Amino acid sequence: MRVLVTGGSGRLGRSVVEVFARRGHDVTSVDASPGPERPGVAFRRVDLLDDAARAQVFAEVRPEAVAHLAGIAVPHARPGAETVAVNARLAWGVLDDARAHGARSVAAASSPTVFGYGSAEWTPERLPLDEEHPVAPVHAYGLSKLVIEEAVRTLARSGRGCVFAAVRPGYVIAPEEWEGALTQQGHTVSERLDRPELAAASLFNYVDARDAAELFALVAEDASGAAHGRVLHAVAGDPMARGPLSELLPRFHPGTAQAAAALAPGQGAFSSREARRLLGWTPRRTWRSELRS
Ligand SMILES: NC(=O)c1ccc[n+]([C@@H]2O[C@H](COP(=O)([O-])OP(=O)(O)OC[C@H]3O[C@@H](n4cnc5c(N)ncnc54)[C@H](O)[C@@H]3O)[C@@H](O)[C@H]2O)c1
Repeated sequence: MRVLVTGGSGRLGRSVVEVFARRGHDVTSVDASPGPERPGVAFRRVDLLDDAARAQVFAEVRPEAVAHLAGIAVPHARPGAETVAVNARLAWGVLDDARAHGARSVAAASSPTVFGYGSAEWTPERLPLDEEHPVAPVHAYGLSKLVIEEAVRTLARSGRGCVFAAVRPGYVIAPEEWEGALTQQGHTVSERLDRPELAAASLFNYVDARDAAELFALVAEDASGAAHGRVLHAVAGDPMARGPLSELLPRFHPGTAQAAAALAPGQGAFSSREARRLLGWTPRRTWRSELRS
């Protein structure tokens, strides 16, 4: 299959490119910044906010499947108005161009931050958080991801033979980060485990980048279109924590006390039920099996 990956130079995108290529697909990575070269993978340096350049790369590659990851990927990294505008514009432009140029499937990266757990008062209806739990973003990045999910639903409703899905990856751990490289927030995996206040900000969720990448591949390869119009979690089953979340979560998010009591030891705050049910996806790597330093 011809696959176009936007943001293929990024923390998650590098694994998405690698996983698609290893599964035998013909991959083009499109990014404003160069990434590591990989034999057999084409790279196109394009600012995807440039409508003409974006349309041209789609016309030339004519992808059958698209994984859309490019964007502002960190809350508060940029001014709020810029984050909303850039992520929304990129999503609509890429998804609509993908369909216009004949793609059969598009999976776009959203984020669990749509649940709004960044606020001190946050109280979930239930735990673990599943794909049906209400969303209530509390910052521009979370809102931008909700806009991406709505773009997916909007285009899914308009049909015309292309599957549109959104994937909410947990806090992504790239392969080198298990060896001690810094994670997205600037500290190591070991530090996140040793200082629970760090991982608490994301409710202790995480996912190995290769595991999340496999879900993007499954969406592309699934001929039945089971993920059409859906939001899928891609989150490790266990928490990035040495202790049980029934104790840790209420310490950092007091509003979770009641719901967290339902979590079994070793159970994370997120369920990836829909990805498992619809596509048979299951996270294979845990910090216990992968951590090297
Ligand atoms: N890293 C995480 O923990 C995490 C968690 C949930 C969701 N996500 C989402 O997954 C996606 C990938 O995240 P990441 O951690 O790999 O981010 P990243 O910042 O490492 O990579 C994003 C890539 O997009 C590219 N990009 C940005 N604007 C572009 C533009 N206008 N044109 C072309 N390329 C552009 C960047 O150059 C970069 O290589 C993002 O959409 C992010 O919001 C990430």
